Amino acid sequence: MSRTLLTNIGWITTPHAPGKNRPLYKLDQPDADTILLEDETIHWIGKAADLPGGTDARIIDLQGRGVTPGLIDFHAHPVFAATREAEFQLRTAGASYADIAAAGGGIINSTKKVAVASEQELVNHARPFLDNALTHGTTTLEAKSGYGLTVEGELKLLRAIRALGNDHPLDLVPTFLGAHEYPLEYRDDHEAYIKILIKEMIPKVVEEGLAEACDIFCETGVYSVEEARRILTIAREHGLKLKVHADQLTPLGGSKLAAELGALSADHIEYLDDEGIEAMADAGTVAGLLPVAAHFLRMKEDPPVRNLIERGVVCALATDFNPGSAMCENMQMAIHLAAIRFRVSAEEALWMATAGSAAGLGITDRGYLAPGGLADIAVWNTPSFEMIPYHFGINQVVGVFKRGTLVVQEGRRVG
Ligand code: NIG
Ligand code: FE
Repeated sequence: MSRTLLTNIGWITTPHAPGKNRPLYKLDQPDADTILLEDETIHWIGKAADLPGGTDARIIDLQGRGVTPGLIDFHAHPVFAATREAEFQLRTAGASYADIAAAGGGIINSTKKVAVASEQELVNHARPFLDNALTHGTTTLEAKSGYGLTVEGELKLLRAIRALGNDHPLDLVPTFLGAHEYPLEYRDDHEAYIKILIKEMIPKVVEEGLAEACDIFCETGVYSVEEARRILTIAREHGLKLKVHADQLTPLGGSKLAAELGALSADHIEYLDDEGIEAMADAGTVAGLLPVAAHFLRMKEDPPVRNLIERGVVCALATDFNPGSAMCENMQMAIHLAAIRFRVSAEEALWMATAGSAAGLGITDRGYLAPGGLADIAVWNTPSFEMIPYHFGINQVVGVFKRGTLVVQEGRRVG
């Protein structure tokens, strides 16, 4: 067994561990300066003077720095073959995201690049982004497919995600997003592509064990609510968890569908209405907040975050990292933009980026610091957690422990 003792911790700020009376959006600040890790989990948190047992542990002096749980980026598209800065230039010159997509850019542009890339090229392209996420404090990252839109393309992306997860310290949580768009050749024959999705892609993805969840872009001009219901129902029958890109650009009702089908989360939700909020609250659907995409797309509408919080809906925070609408793998920026755009407090934002995001992935072993939880820890060079949303555009994380191993030290990848 390997034991590591983190000493001289300046402050500890964390959501409460999951349990019956866990308060939503409240952080705990235990009166402690020491954390004992055993292998991949946290064994004990307390005052150095009260430390149980001997000291056979490796001691790491944190020199008064603060710690929080590692950040969880529960919605991201990190595996693609090429960036899209030319489209970004068109947007700064006035074109809209929809204009660019209609002209064959956008997601379709990315599928053309993925079609001619090898699995190894996809792995090599994604790795630096994963390193950036890790050095900025992310310890768990969702990774969606969705830039293949063919059987081979989607399997290639998911196999690349599996390969990346096997050799990178980050935990990658794979999601199948074959219903990200309709390929151009199926724009007038949705039925034919839906058949490929439900008869070929989903069974193959499940047979190879390549994804934990199935996501869909439920939006006007992309997948209708009826189409999404059909595809997600089949995915659920195959044992996949469900997620929905919902009510982002128009109030189509994807969030209500997510609630109806028992999906983990409805994400974006800029156009979520009161009926949708009620449905999500009743069903326990997590609300996925993606302020980086809202910023990047200059969204006019923001999600009804205060109503969601007041209604007791769990909100989760993520980057939505992708080459088209959120070219940012830094969760600290998501926290900053959530504070500015969505008017959430530092306490709410940090809770959403840890406990909320774990709920959005349907996992309970992380997103908090307590005995028994995973030893995924971000070390901050700040006097308190309130600095996290406030001081933006620089990296305030100096250290990261992933499953008990020191993987970032003084801001750099180690190990
Ligand atoms: O989550 N909404 C659709 N999908 C992505 C954008 C993908 C892209 O433009 O490459 C999103 O914002
Ligand atoms: Fe997305």
